[in-house]
Amino acid sequence: MPGPIGGGPERLLVLGGTTEASALVRSLAAHPHRFDVILSLAGRTASPKPEPVATRVGGFGGAEGLAVWMTQQRIDRLIDATHPFAERISRNAALAAQGLGVALLAVRRPAWTRLPGDLWTEVDDMEAAAAALGATPRRVFLTVGRQELAAFAAAPRHAYHVRTIEPVGDLLRVPHLAEITARGPFTVEAETAFLRNARIERLVTKNSGGAATYAKIEAARTLGIPVVVVRRPAMPEAESVPDAASALDRLLAGQPGTLREV
Ligand SMILES: NC(=O)c1ccc[n+]([C@@H]2O[C@H](COP(=O)([O-])OP(=O)(O)OC[C@H]3O[C@@H](n4cnc5c(N)ncnc54)[C@H](OP(=O)(O)O)[C@@H]3O)[C@@H](O)[C@H]2O)c1
Repeated sequence: MPGPIGGGPERLLVLGGTTEASALVRSLAAHPHRFDVILSLAGRTASPKPEPVATRVGGFGGAEGLAVWMTQQRIDRLIDATHPFAERISRNAALAAQGLGVALLAVRRPAWTRLPGDLWTEVDDMEAAAAALGATPRRVFLTVGRQELAAFAAAPRHAYHVRTIEPVGDLLRVPHLAEITARGPFTVEAETAFLRNARIERLVTKNSGGAATYAKIEAARTLGIPVVVVRRPAMPEAESVPDAASALDRLLAGQPGTLREV
């Protein structure tokens, strides 16, 4: 069984920035004799929700930096609970864990799947999403986060409503832009009312999965609004669980991780 020599609490590094990571660290904090937890955030949000575990903020400096940091902090196990679109940090986590022979557990929420009534166009990236909006000017609801908004500057004919957690600033320069700053979860009722009132004709979303932001998909289905869905990037191989509760069960069971036991 993995764990520190000498039998103290297992030192866990949880890479977060997601609902799952928050839920997991809160449940791990209830087992202080089993787990000594550090949560790591990228620092994208100015005022993240405080959590009941030690928290560090900012990048590590690539896979090598992460490996050095994990060694210094005597991390026994790495939990990748980052967003399904956070491709770089997941790749770094896999490389660092493999290099150090430390067990890696990934919390990977299932993707949304198309249901009857969904009018989806699936694309591989944000540039393709902007192109998929077509030549006719549309009223578009963009819910893709801040980082890749610039791709939509290539389609300035549309009128954009952009919902982000932090203000958009000058990340998207287009003639018609309305900003909504809000953090999920959102209800189907509220999403339906918004889509109606703003007379939205197209929704753009990443296939993030999870319940917190699914209401917009349901609302679009009910109103017959076409949705441009950006597919997920490929993720490195890792033992994975679908949610925070399964991750806690897995950690409490104390079974060996896939990469550590060599
Ligand atoms: N991408 C999304 O759609 C999305 C949505 C919601 C939440 N998030 C969260 O926002 C954060 C950043 O996402 P991203 O798409 O920018 O990731 P990314 O492209 O995979 O990562 C870019 C760089 O940010 C740093 N980083 C990312 N996550 C980190 C973490 N948890 N702790 C410390 N450093 C981290 C790493 O820097 P170094 O190489 O210097 O270590 C990484 O190389 C993640 O924590 C993710 O869970 C992302």
